[in-house]
Amino acid sequence: MKTYLVTGGAGFIGSNYIHYMFGKYGDSIRIINVDALTYAGNPENLKEVEGRENYTFIKANICDKDAIAKIFAENEIDRVVHFAAESHVDRSIKNPEVFVQTNVLGTAVMLNCAKAAWELPDGGFKADKKFLHVSTDEVYGSLPEDGGYFYETTPYAPHSPYSASKAGSDMLVKAYMDTYRFPANITNCSNNYGPYQSPEKLIPLIINNALQGKKLPVYGDGKNVRDWLYVEDHAKAIDMVQEKGRLFETYNVGGHNEKQNIEIIKIIIETLRETLSDSDPRKANVTEELITYVEDREGHDRRYAIAPDKIKAEIGWEPETMFKEGIRRTIEWYFAHDEWMKHATSGDYQKYYEEMYAEKLARAGEGCL
Ligand SMILES: NC(=O)c1ccc[n+]([C@@H]2O[C@H](COP(=O)([O-])OP(=O)(O)OC[C@H]3O[C@@H](n4cnc5c(N)ncnc54)[C@H](O)[C@@H]3O)[C@@H](O)[C@H]2O)c1
Repeated sequence: MKTYLVTGGAGFIGSNYIHYMFGKYGDSIRIINVDALTYAGNPENLKEVEGRENYTFIKANICDKDAIAKIFAENEIDRVVHFAAESHVDRSIKNPEVFVQTNVLGTAVMLNCAKAAWELPDGGFKADKKFLHVSTDEVYGSLPEDGGYFYETTPYAPHSPYSASKAGSDMLVKAYMDTYRFPANITNCSNNYGPYQSPEKLIPLIINNALQGKKLPVYGDGKNVRDWLYVEDHAKAIDMVQEKGRLFETYNVGGHNEKQNIEIIKIIIETLRETLSDSDPRKANVTEELITYVEDREGHDRRYAIAPDKIKAEIGWEPETMFKEGIRRTIEWYFAHDEWMKHATSGDYQKYYEEMYAEKLARAGEGCL
């Protein structure tokens, strides 16, 4: 039975990954989830797995060397899947320091502890131990609107404190692989969407606001392009890279599904209108009139687009969920998890929302929070 140490498993992608892995492997694997439960960590994401005998949650910060070393000392870890990070670009613009701490120093702690636990006296490593570092396409910078893709060989050119800190963490993993032949892989994935995503992020924010008839804030001209991937496809890619990928390699993961932010918002409005019954009073709220253009994010990258050729050719992974279908599933999930959304949008979220959007919406002449 393999033991997985998952970091940041109470967040959006980490929790989807844990559900995917238990769905696929059932009782034949063990998962230890270490998470500091920051504003982004939500234990409700894992309610369904809490009772499993092969699941353990440990509340700890990945920067805490002693806590992480203790987990390795007490458990024979076979796989590390490292999600834990500060992940929100807007927050990184307001407070970059914590991004460097968690994303760079925290990754250094994870690497060091795994290396210490797995290293043999001759400098080699115990058999079949693997570390997967989950990263982002944002490390590659921004592409022109009229063409080009991010390949694994594209030079790094991060622009935001978030992407700079993720680039730093990627470089550390690369350094461990080059210097020690540390058994690792890196995945650089495009934007994810799906269940359990914090309503600070674009897609759940738009779903939640639209249902309440609140303005839908769109940065700048709304034409920034992202390459959207359904989160379950990402979870599957991570597992396939870890089991079938060549060690020491980086794999780009993406959906070949480029969309402008404004297109995404219009698709959500259309899908919400299709999904809500005519007798549902919320349906009348959901119109394009809610769309409100606000001042752009500082240093907003124009376009991201992944070339997933390598992962397809070497591992046979391809995105399976078409965007229209993925958005429909996502909206249905949020409908069925009303309480989850209520909890996720109480407390800290309200404070964050007002800080980020109240002024911008007021400046757009439309303040209605
Ligand atoms: N969301 C995306 O679209 C996307 C795309 C590509 C890559 N990624 C990467 O995937 C990973 C997960 O992203 P996400 O969207 O699920 O993020 P998230 O913000 O939803 O979750 C991050 C999780 O990490 C935990 N965490 C934060 N700091 C920690 C610390 N110091 N110690 C322990 N736990 C800590 C949080 O409590 C939370 O549970 C990140 O590394 C991110 O860079 C995200």
